[in-house]
Order: sequence, then structure tokens, then C-alpha cells
Amino acid sequence: MSPRNLRDLPAEALDGKRALVRVDFNVPLAKDSGVADDTRIRAALPTIKYLRDKGTRVILLSHLDRPTGPDPTLSLRHIVRTLEQLLGTPVDFIPDPAAGIAATRRLPRGGVALVENVRFWPGEEQNDPELARTFAALGDFYVNDAFGTAHRAHASTEAVAHLLKPAVAGFLVERELRYLGDALQHPKRPFLAVLGGAKISGKIDVIEALLPRVDQILVGGAMANTFFLAVDFTVGKSLVERDKVDLAKALIAKAGSKLILPRGAVVAPSLERRDERREVPCDRIPADCAVFDIDHTTQLDFRAHILRAKTVVWNGPMGVFETPPFDEGTRAVAEALIEAGKRGAITVVGGGDSAAAVRGLEEKFTHVSTGGGASLDFLEGKTLPGVAALEAA
Ligand code: 3PG
Repeated sequence: MSPRNLRDLPAEALDGKRALVRVDFNVPLAKDSGVADDTRIRAALPTIKYLRDKGTRVILLSHLDRPTGPDPTLSLRHIVRTLEQLLGTPVDFIPDPAAGIAATRRLPRGGVALVENVRFWPGEEQNDPELARTFAALGDFYVNDAFGTAHRAHASTEAVAHLLKPAVAGFLVERELRYLGDALQHPKRPFLAVLGGAKISGKIDVIEALLPRVDQILVGGAMANTFFLAVDFTVGKSLVERDKVDLAKALIAKAGSKLILPRGAVVAPSLERRDERREVPCDRIPADCAVFDIDHTTQLDFRAHILRAKTVVWNGPMGVFETPPFDEGTRAVAEALIEAGKRGAITVVGGGDSAAAVRGLEEKFTHVSTGGGASLDFLEGKTLPGVAALEAA
């Protein structure tokens, strides 16, 4: 379903009105103070700026991390300064939504307020209608621009959308649905998926959902180790999900030649002993070592597949990319996608770790998703409750 969009609202529905905007400002905080990575805040700026230009009062709702109750270290106060700098305007802070109505009415036209971390209230994750009513009282209409949280049916993403109308999608949600949706529904072929990361369990449904749609799936990261066990290779001390080996076997049988596994791996006795790293074929992983990356031969092999594709969807790193030199395989995949893009391919990077791995290079891809779990759920074909609750276009 495509939801109704912010642009569908006429000027009189915006001017002077209070927009309650759910954003995903679940950003990493810096150790000293402020925000360590403002990507998700910048991604919400087009919606906020559009509303401000139309004379709308903007009230922002977000969660930050997973607090179990009020926690000053996870207060959204920590991001106010970054938001003010990015918007070039003061931002009011509303510490308690239940006492916030007056503050929202005091905002000037084009003014911006940020409400405290919605997960400080237990009703948020329970999708509690009472809390949703409290949120709804802060606005005259609702905009969901929190793609990263669209897979959660929470009070600020789902219940509130049934109470406060119109309830429409912001520009980030629209963009994410368009790029991820087009890649899945109308892919230019060959259509290739590159999947990595640590766990097969989180991705198994994605692999199953993608198999009938894609021409090939390349698998890297620690997830590949589970597939190695499934074909009777030993994996030494590598991270592996032994209880998922049967699942991996079934997927191999189902996928046939569509599934491409790494040919070799970069191994070392431990992450710390990286100076002792070496490349080995996948059927020769030493018992005293763990796999930390794909090897050079696999990089070239994956690159060749990627360059032949016309649509590439990538989710999950190929190795421990946070610890160089085990970032080389992930970098090689990123570079191959960029090269494929230059040759006319559509390149879509799922959020989470793979988005972190291409930080600063976003412009070089067709689309880099801001959603980790949300983009995986979408690729799996699941309904995103935060989107489903909006009005249909
Ligand atoms: C994310 O970072 O993926 C989103 O902000 C959702 O966060 P959650 O997994 O804590 O619901």
C-alpha cells in the first residue's frame, strides 16, 4: 500500500497548524556530549523544512535507544543542539508530553519543538491508546517520517495514527518505500542481493523471500560460516549458528545455483592477533582460527557478479568491518556497488551495519536506507505497522 503523502495536504491544512511528526532520531550519542552520527537527523530535514516553510508548527516525537524507563543518559535533550544547528532555528524541549499542549500552542508559525524520548513511558512499546491520546493532543495532524521505526507497532507510530487525522507519510518514508519497493517489485535484471552480517537467524526469512525474486544471492559475513558447516566444511573458532545448520542446508537445496558462497576467508587466531591473519580456502579453515572477512579471491568473484547486475540490494557487512583490516571485504563490496551504479545499475544499501559501512559515501548509491530492522522486514515482504496505519493514497 502507498500511504498518503505530506505533499497531498493543501496549504490551508498546514498553515498555522501543529504537525505531530514521528521521526527516528535513534542516533548514537557522542561520549563527551551531542550526537556521534547525525545521518538520521539529516534524513528527516526535508520534511521538517517543508512544514516550516508552509508556516506549520512542528512537534517532533522520537525514541532513543531502548530505555526501560526514564533515563537521563538517554534523554533527547542531548540532541537538541545538533538539531538546532542543522535547522538553523531554536528548538523548544517538551520534557513531558502530558504537560506539553500549552508549549505546542505557544510555538510561533514555523517553530519547532522536540518531545522527550517516547520510550520513557511504558505505554509506548505496548501501543497503549491512552499514551497515543496524549501524543495526539500535541498536534492537529500526524506525519510519520520514522522509516527506521516503521516496523514497530508502538503508541507513537501506530496507535496515534488512528487517532490524529490526517495521518500521512513524510518525505523520508515516501523515499524509502519508493526505492526499496521499486527494487523488489520492478527490478532491472539481473537482480542481485548481497547479504552479510553475523546472524543467519535474522536474515533467513529475507533469504527465503528474496530467492524467488532475485537472480542471485551472494552470502558473506559470519552468516556464511553456517552455510560452510551445512556443506561439511569445518569453521574453527568462527562465529556460527550451529542450530541453524539444517536451515542452511534446506536453503542451499532450495536456492540451487542462485546462492553464491565465499570461496575463501581471511582467518586469524583472534581479532587482537590480526597480524597473524592469512587467507585460506573455505574448506581449509584452521581449527585454531576464526573467519573475520572474505578473502581477495571472493572479493573479485563478488565484484564480477555485482558488475553484471542491473539491480543490487545489499544488507550486512562481509566481515568485522569495524576492525580494520577486516573491513577490506566490506569495502570491496561497497566499491563494486559504486562501480555498478556508474554503469547504470540501481544500488540499494539496507540500513544498520551496511549503512554504517558506507557512511560519507551515501551520494554514490541510488539509495541508502535509514532503517535496519525496518528495511529487513520490508525486504521480507512484511507489512510495516507504522506505514499501514497511515491513510491510503
Ligand atoms: C533502529 O535503530 O533500527 C530503529 O530506531 C528501531 O529501534 P528498535 O530496534 O530499538 O525498535
